[in-house]
Amino acid sequence: MTNQKRYNVAVVGATGAVGEQIIALLEQRQFPIQSLKLLSSARSAGKKIVFDGQEITVEEAKPESFEGVDIALFSAGGDVSKELAPAAVERGAVCIDNTNAFRMDPNTPLVVPEVNIEKVKEHQGIIANPNCSTIQMVAALKPLYDRYGISRIIVSTYQAVSGAGSKAISELLRQSTEVLAGNEVEPDILPVGSLPVKHQIAFNAIPQIDKFQDNGFTLEEMKMIRETKKIMNDDSLQVTATCVRIPVVYGHSESVYVELKDDFQMEDVRELLANAPGLTLVDEPSEQKYPLATESAGKPDVFVGRLRRDLSQPRALNMWVVSDNLMKGAAWNAVQIAEYIASERQ
Ligand SMILES: NC(=O)c1ccc[n+]([C@@H]2O[C@H](COP(=O)([O-])OP(=O)(O)OC[C@H]3O[C@@H](n4cnc5c(N)ncnc54)[C@H](OP(=O)(O)O)[C@@H]3O)[C@@H](O)[C@H]2O)c1
Repeated sequence: MTNQKRYNVAVVGATGAVGEQIIALLEQRQFPIQSLKLLSSARSAGKKIVFDGQEITVEEAKPESFEGVDIALFSAGGDVSKELAPAAVERGAVCIDNTNAFRMDPNTPLVVPEVNIEKVKEHQGIIANPNCSTIQMVAALKPLYDRYGISRIIVSTYQAVSGAGSKAISELLRQSTEVLAGNEVEPDILPVGSLPVKHQIAFNAIPQIDKFQDNGFTLEEMKMIRETKKIMNDDSLQVTATCVRIPVVYGHSESVYVELKDDFQMEDVRELLANAPGLTLVDEPSEQKYPLATESAGKPDVFVGRLRRDLSQPRALNMWVVSDNLMKGAAWNAVQIAEYIASERQ
């Protein structure tokens, strides 16, 4: 291990919900770090974060911050990535970007390691991490795609507030306390859209995640549709999505209806999913066991259950897919890519 190459790493958005998880994973996984830069906006510059027993001072992210950086993990919003990721690439860094900024750029690989890790090799400086709800769905569907082919996907999501960042977590907790105390709530953060209109999230379900598009879908729904086709490298896939925010802190849940091209046996599907990398099958209805957001929190896997053949279309099945949006949906997927880059450079 002493000859192992070590990397100068930067985490942009280090004080955010995703950034905190990235830092924790780099430490847990003992990523081969030479030096670690923790970057944020001017608001959090000066804050101290302990990494591997050492205190690191958070710095304001600027183009010059990336001098000497080998790998930069971005999760500070699309505008920051658009401005700073090219500046980091110019200085020789490989960027793994958690935002929507480059995902559909034809020159940027959109990578879920269990699905298309080989695409990393095509990068021109930036590798995009897909949207959190897309990552867990494609990870669950890839084994079925490879064995049977997929013609159509209908997904409805039940997404945690942490998907909208740490301010949305605080908003849910604050509103819940206010409602229980019998007080009026003043919604401030959700939904994140193009209008200043906000709705109560505590004890509610908001059928809007991100801005509305001209076609009536939200941007989150369009991300799921477009990104799924790009990751699966299959434009013929028919995909539709409805994305809903619910009052859960960590873990997105999804009801996924999938039409396969070939006939299948439920037992084979069960075995396939039970043995797939990164998936955990939790499917014992007789014992009321199925994936739960609370049980996914803090874990890297995608949990799959409630498997059943559809009654209206015999070549289709229904499933319930759950994963921690901050882990596999963001930080863990990004760190897996970083580990792959490090292993390729040995
Ligand atoms: N949450 C998820 O499940 C999830 C999943 C996949 C992708 N993402 C994406 O990851 C990004 C961050 O999400 P999050 O949930 O971690 O948000 P968050 O909790 O609100 O954190 C945002 C982070 O970005 C930093 N930041 C904001 N403006 C900045 C600027 N101008 N320059 C440098 N840093 C700046 C913030 O620093 P300060 O402390 O200084 O404000 C903070 O560290 C978003 O683009 C989001 O779409 C999130």
